[in-house]
Amino acid sequence: MSWDQVWIDVNLATMSPQVSAPYGAISDAAIAVRDGKIAWLGPRSELPEFDVLATPVYRGKGGWITPGLIDAHTHLVFAGNRANEFELRLQGASYEDIARAGGGIISTVKACREADEAELFELGRQRLNALAREGVTTVEIKSGYGLNTETELKLLRVARELGTHHHVEVVTTFLGAHAIPPEFKHDSDAYVDLVVNEMLPAVLEENLADAVDVFCEGIAFNLEQTERVLCAARAAGLEIKLHAEQLSNLGGSELAARLGAKSVDHIEFLDEAGVKALAKSGTCAVLLPGAFYFLRETQKPPIDLLRQHGVPMVLASDFNPGSSPICSTLLMLNLGCTLFRLTPEEALAGVTRNAAKALGIDGRVGQLAVGMQADFCLWNISTPAQLAYSYGVNPLMDVVKAGKLIHQ
Ligand code: NIG
Ligand code: FE
Repeated sequence: MSWDQVWIDVNLATMSPQVSAPYGAISDAAIAVRDGKIAWLGPRSELPEFDVLATPVYRGKGGWITPGLIDAHTHLVFAGNRANEFELRLQGASYEDIARAGGGIISTVKACREADEAELFELGRQRLNALAREGVTTVEIKSGYGLNTETELKLLRVARELGTHHHVEVVTTFLGAHAIPPEFKHDSDAYVDLVVNEMLPAVLEENLADAVDVFCEGIAFNLEQTERVLCAARAAGLEIKLHAEQLSNLGGSELAARLGAKSVDHIEFLDEAGVKALAKSGTCAVLLPGAFYFLRETQKPPIDLLRQHGVPMVLASDFNPGSSPICSTLLMLNLGCTLFRLTPEEALAGVTRNAAKALGIDGRVGQLAVGMQADFCLWNISTPAQLAYSYGVNPLMDVVKAGKLIHQ
């Protein structure tokens, strides 16, 4: 066999449904890489002969290899911070009160309109580094803090640039319909016109987005407006997804499912009809425990129903300055289990296999299997549940992205 690298003295949490053990685990295993892809994996005892003199062999010291982590929902390109709103909320103001008073998303919009690309790039790079240090190899980044054509394009260009300058792969989402900008305060339909007729074509022209998202909520866009944006996106051949049912139940998830969305995100207020609609359309449920925690929400997403109906559950950081200023994907595993009662195995699937599905890249990443891209992490842990159980001492030892060893 001729391989580019081989890992031995490892256990594998393949997260592949083809491997029937919990976590798709293979203990005392080996994994081989060729041309950026997984060429072989299995029990060490079955490792085929290979040229040991010509092949780098890495020893995993008995640790666990998982697929590279995927954070399927972030807003990590933004300027400024909202610590002042945190203080206001501690004095009793709600997230919605602050948004209605012109703070919230709009205050970050002001900072982003003023920031130049270089500044936004540097901020994004530092955040991407933080995620990479925890084993993230793929991240989704949304725009949505520009709310005018110029700034939305600027944010998406920065997101794309980050992907070309960093080993972490970036999937971009255009979220022009994130909030109603002050200029359109009294005419949100006219803003939707702008999103559909001017921003989206400009985004397409520069190939800046892989998907389109909308914030469907009382403080943002109604169902009809959401449908207009999602239909325009779909007609342009982009994937669609939705911020839905975060603060109330408007039925956004059912709409998104009907239109073939890859995911609906937040969904604390989702009901059984909504869950059934997701199950029918194969739409993923993206759970965002960082926002739930930081906003001290009490309404939990309907985990039991999602489980019962077999809806793929995803965990993501939602990293953003307002509702989840927590730049950690790994911490979401712990929060997903403690706050939402996911099992550690469900949590890990939520940042690997199911996260890949939510981004439409599950044919390539998210599992350890022959033919998949060689994106994986080696962890100094004795059982995969440890990734969800404990937080703070980073157990990451090594990362391989598309077959390339990334030095920690
Ligand atoms: O995912 N829900 C809408 N958007 C973000 C919050 C953005 C903000 O407050 O800046 C979210 O929670
Ligand atoms: Fe979000």
